[in-house]
Amino acid sequence: MEEIKFNQIGVSFKGSGSYVPDQILTNEEISQKVDTSDEWIKSRTGISERRISRVEDNVADMGYKAALTAIEMANWDIKTIDLIVLATSTPNDLFGSAPSIQAKLGASNAVAFDLTAACSGFLFALITTSQFLKAGNFKRALVVGADQLSSFVDWNDRRSCILFGDGAGALAIEATNEFDNFIGFDMRTDGERGCFLNLPSKNNEDSIIDNIQFLSGGFSPIQMNGQEVYKFAVKEVPIILDKLFKKTNYSSDKVDWLILHQANQRILDSVGDRLRIPKEKILSNLEKYGNTSAATIPLMIDEAIRNHSIKQNDIIATSGFGAGLSWGAALIKWG
Ligand code: COA
Repeated sequence: MEEIKFNQIGVSFKGSGSYVPDQILTNEEISQKVDTSDEWIKSRTGISERRISRVEDNVADMGYKAALTAIEMANWDIKTIDLIVLATSTPNDLFGSAPSIQAKLGASNAVAFDLTAACSGFLFALITTSQFLKAGNFKRALVVGADQLSSFVDWNDRRSCILFGDGAGALAIEATNEFDNFIGFDMRTDGERGCFLNLPSKNNEDSIIDNIQFLSGGFSPIQMNGQEVYKFAVKEVPIILDKLFKKTNYSSDKVDWLILHQANQRILDSVGDRLRIPKEKILSNLEKYGNTSAATIPLMIDEAIRNHSIKQNDIIATSGFGAGLSWGAALIKWG
């Protein structure tokens, strides 16, 4: 790792990548499992289908594939990458899946670690990574968001199983002394409301020897109070974005794109209305993928870069929100 000696260091966005499993689960197919319908799911969420990892897939593989395409777009020599941060709540190794991505890439000069903040995870990882770059500690970094929630969904719970899917996305970002395209951010947590969305540990009591008990590790499926999470998102996301605009002397009309965590089309529409951002500027791909947790924001950015919607120097307002409860916002300029 080479120490950077600039007085003022900014962040530049160099590449994006994504990966989704090829196995598609449609609303029609879910209705064969639980009492629901394509019409109900589409009208309440905007989701038509989602991707489900095959049994041989895992988060590290998905994250690796997304990261590799971001590196190709950035045109980086893999050995020049200093840092890899993986946002995930579903690592295939609880000790961390980022080192596995580092190894698969052959990014032997990079330090790699996981960061968990559920559906806010990618945004929190992007902010964390940007601070490392701006502090002059690292030059090139990969921020990866990957989740495989299909492994933790209760496929008999129609109130939650309709929402989630699997996928991965990644951004390649770099320190520069020429400009700063990471304009500002804000982050919040309210653990008091954490009970509205959980993937809790499920520990069975067991004993090692007669008088020494222990709790074996494991997890219960996702538990969600959909109405409370909905109310939280439509209230807090406009507030945090509005505060960020004021803090950075921006306003919603200067924004080219609003990229929200892709949870529910009704949440996207409501936030857009409250901020007076027209529908054409609000990017959405949840119809195809559902809520892929830490992957939604980079998956959406990558799609919009590759179909030439997002162009060099476009201003993007982005917000992640979810379990914790946690939420955050960032204002960036692409390029
Ligand atoms: N199919 C058919 N009916 C369903 C259903 C489904 N998949 N899920 C719930 N219902 C039923 C309920 O049982 C309820 O019936 P009842 O009135 O007879 O009891 C009725 O539909 C209304 O349920 P409700 O929970 O009020 O629905 P809703 O309009 O709030 O929509 C969500 C449910 C989950 C789509 C919505 O609350 C939501 O999207 N919340 C946010 C969740 C989220 O984004 N989580 C991740 C954040 S990162």
